Order: sequence, then structure tokens, then C-alpha cells
Amino acid sequence: MSSAAMKLAVVAALISAAAVGARACLDVGFYDTTCPTAETLIQQVVAAAFRNDSGVAPAMIRMHFHDCFVRGCDGSVLIDTVPGSTTRAEKDAAPNNPSLRFFDVIDRAKSAVEAACPGVVSCADVVAFMARDGVVLSGGLGYQVPAGRRDGRTSLEDDALNFLPPPTSTAADLVANFTAKNLTAEDMVVLSGAHTIGVSHCDSFTNRIYNFPNTTDGIDPSLSKAYAFLLKGICPPNSNQTFPTTTTFMDILTPTKFDNRYYVGLTNNLGLFQSDAALLTDAALKATVNSFVRSEATFRLKFARAMIKMGQIGVLSGTQGEIRLNCRVVNPVNVTATAADDHHLTSSSSSSSDEVAAS
Ligand code: HEM
Ligand SMILES: *[C@@H]1O[C@H](CO)[C@@H](O)[C@H](O)[C@H]1NC(C)=O
Ligand SMILES: *[C@@H]1O[C@H](CO)[C@@H](O)[C@H](O)[C@H]1NC(C)=O
Ligand SMILES: *[C@@H]1O[C@H](CO)[C@@H](O)[C@H](O)[C@H]1NC(C)=O
Ligand SMILES: *[C@@H]1O[C@H](CO)[C@@H](O)[C@H](O)[C@H]1NC(C)=O
Ligand SMILES: *[C@@H]1O[C@H](CO)[C@@H](O)[C@H](O)[C@H]1NC(C)=O
Ligand SMILES: *[C@@H]1O[C@H](CO)[C@@H](O)[C@H](O)[C@H]1NC(C)=O
Repeated sequence: MSSAAMKLAVVAALISAAAVGARACLDVGFYDTTCPTAETLIQQVVAAAFRNDSGVAPAMIRMHFHDCFVRGCDGSVLIDTVPGSTTRAEKDAAPNNPSLRFFDVIDRAKSAVEAACPGVVSCADVVAFMARDGVVLSGGLGYQVPAGRRDGRTSLEDDALNFLPPPTSTAADLVANFTAKNLTAEDMVVLSGAHTIGVSHCDSFTNRIYNFPNTTDGIDPSLSKAYAFLLKGICPPNSNQTFPTTTTFMDILTPTKFDNRYYVGLTNNLGLFQSDAALLTDAALKATVNSFVRSEATFRLKFARAMIKMGQIGVLSGTQGEIRLNCRVVNPVNVTATAADDHHLTSSSSSSSDEVAAS
């Protein structure tokens, strides 16, 4: 990946800290002295997984989004529901389960950095690095990831339901939901461009192809009829029950390439979700869409900038939160020598925080 290194150098020059704002206390090169191999080790795990299944790239990009929009980028999306608990964790909420995938690849990346530098690299940062690696492996522009996030200790299904916008969202809803996270309407349009790679399950869009309200053919008028018939072939009625694991690519023009074809498809009524088509229903949003149709370079650069910005939402830093040892489980209240041995880890003591209210 020497070309990736080159891209990183280029973007480092283009994206200055000032350009993306100095709000959160995160730093590029945060692990340079404490774990200098962290980013390389993580990249190797993502690259190996990507060679086997390129779907790991979109999966990590979406993972970062769903982490950041719920309690901030604090790794809370990775925490498993505690067995026997009556409250489920974020990852078991409908917007995440079963669609979030490759948690096992995150575990492998975390294990690699724990083996090299125990108790140093947060799960939230691992996800941020993996998302960037997914962008680069799919052909997007590389960027340097400000790091130093700490991990939260709370993960609640209801938070995911309350903060992750559904695919039926209108333009006004989407703008409001992103503004609530300090992201602009333009950030929302450019980040939706992540739908240039990856897949969707049928139940995210079957309402657009069967029984859409106020139509005679049941098809959302903002969706291409030809595409609707193709989708009906993939997703029969009630497919959420009969074929719950069926998926389809979101960008049918170039499904695995991180390019601007998502926007080209969008302007040809090939956006898969109502939330995609919604980007054409508002003049300002549509102007942004059209600018990305015209210039792939503009999209690539603005996407990288917006990912850096999204990666700063509600972060914990300094002594807040903890460095979770196993991304699926919050640390025991005291990380004792015994507990560390159980994990085959020797922890440099984690902070003794109570539950954090990140927001
Ligand atoms: C604007 C509001 C958004 C809505 C309503 C939305 C909705 C969705 C839905 C419904 C899916 C398919 C899930 C499934 O059924 O399997 C999906 C997939 C995906 N989304 Fe979004 N999304 C939004 C924004 C974003 C953002 C900001 C990003 C990242 C920057 C993103 C990245 C992805 C990726 C990469 C996938 C494919 C995941 C995979 O292949 O595993 N989305 N999105
Ligand atoms: C390769 O990808 C397939 C499909 O995602 C998965 O089932 C399998 O575990 C992967 N193998 C490795 C070695 O990652
Ligand atoms: C998105 O914004 C709309 C409009 O303010 C609001 O009704 C909705 O609850 C928000 N949804 C999420 C998931 O943030
Ligand atoms: C699944 O299909 C049933 C029957 O058509 C429907 O009532 C339900 O709302 C669907 N669920 C989702 C998540 O689309
Ligand atoms: C369908 O028509 C009704 C009555 O005119 C209206 O209230 C509703 O918003 C329409 N639904 C859609 C999805 O256009
Ligand atoms: C948004 O910015 C305001 C002002 O800088 C800050 O107080 C707030 O915590 C930020 N919200 C998020 C979700 O990052
Ligand atoms: C945590 O530390 C305190 C004080 O060192 C000790 O009394 C307590 O037993 C420890 N709890 C656990 C679960 O190890």
C-alpha cells in the first residue's frame, strides 16, 4: 500500500487541523510514542479481511458512523448485551442488528494492538482507524485520523433507536439529525456518499416497492421503475421474514468502488432508500449532490474532511472513560492483575471512572 502512504501524505497537506476545527482534544499521531505500530497493525488486519471479503470496508465505515452518532465516538456500539440483562446494548437495536457486521475483524485488530501495547489503544480509535482503512482500500482518499478517544462504559438499545436516522427519513429530518451532531447539511450529503459501497437488507427499502402509499402500482414515484422491478426480483414481498439475510448492493453502478457514482445513480432515480432520494427534494442539498456528480475530486476530499469531523462527535478524552481491554465488554471496575491475566493482558491501570454520560 505505498500508494496509500502517498495519498496520506497528500491529504495531510490538504487537511489542516484548522480546516476541520480544533474542537475535540484529539491528535494525529496520538500513539506515536505509546504504540507506534498501532495503525500499521490495524491496517494489516483490515487489509487481510478485505482480501477475503471486500464488504469489510463498508462495514467499518458504517460502524464508525453508528458509533459516533450514539453517545459519541466511544466504542459503545461494540459492547455486547450483558447476558441475563433486561436492557439490550446498542448493537442489538434494529438499526444495527443484523446489519452491522464484521465485529470479529474488530476483535482481531484490537487483539493485535493489545499484543503490541497492552491497555493503550481504545476501541473507539480502533474503529476510527478501521473506517479510514476501509475508505482507502475501496479507492477513496486517505486521511490522517486524529486519535486519543477513550471508551465509554454504557451501551443502550434505546440510544441507538433515538439517534440513528431511519431510511424513511425526509430531507428535513436528516438535516435536523446531523445538525444535532454538529454536522452541516453539506456534511450530511457528503457522508451519505458512503452508500457508494456496501449492501442493504430488503427490509430497509421494501416499503418503496410494494404498497407505497397513494400510488396505483405500489412503487415510490421517486424510484426508477426498472430498478424497482429488479429489486422486486431480489426481495419478494415479506422477504424480511422469508429471506431475512438477503442483501443487495446500494450503488448498482460501481458497487464496491469508492467513487462518485452513488450521486450519479441518485440523479437517475437509483438511490435505494427514501433517505437517499430525499437529497434531491431540497434545492440546497440537490446543488451539493450535483457538485459531486460534476467533480469526483471534490467529493473525495470533502468526504475525507467530513469523516474527520464525524469522528470528533462527543468524544471522551484525557482521563474520561477507559481503554477497554475487550471491545465487547466494559472493564471490570478494578482491572486487577488477576483480571488482566484472564484476558492474557497486562493492563496499565485504566481510569476508575464510573458510568460516563457522553454527549
Ligand atoms: C443520512 C442518513 C443515513 C441513513 C438513513 C442510512 C441508512 C442506511 C441503511 C438503511 C443501510 C442498510 C442497512 C441494511 O439494511 O443492511 C445503510 C448501509 C450503509 N450505510 Fe448508511 N445511512 C445514512 C448515513 C450513512 C453515513 C453517514 C455513513 C458513513 C459515513 C453510512 C454508511 C453506510 C455504509 C457503508 C453502508 C453499507 C454497510 C455494509 O455494507 O455493511 N451511512 N445505511
Ligand atoms: C472470509 O469471508 C467469509 C464471508 O464473509 C467469512 O465467512 C470467513 O470467515 C472469512 N474468512 C476469513 C479467514 O476471514
Ligand atoms: C431526526 O429529526 C427529526 C426532526 O427533528 C426528529 O423528529 C427525529 O426524532 C430525529 N431522529 C433521529 C433518529 O435523530
Ligand atoms: C416485515 O413484514 C411484515 C409483514 O409484511 C410487516 O408487517 C413488518 O412491518 C415487516 N418488518 C419490517 C422491519 O419491515
Ligand atoms: C397520501 O395521501 C394522504 C392524503 O392525501 C396524505 O395525507 C399522505 O401524506 C400521503 N402519503 C404519502 C406517502 O404521500
Ligand atoms: C456541538 O458543539 C457544541 C459547541 O461547540 C458542543 O457543546 C457540543 O458538545 C457539540 N455536540 C456534539 C455532539 O459533539
Ligand atoms: C476494587 O478495589 C478496592 C480497593 O482497592 C477493593 O477493596 C475491591 O475489593 C476491588 N474490587 C474488585 C471487584 O476487585
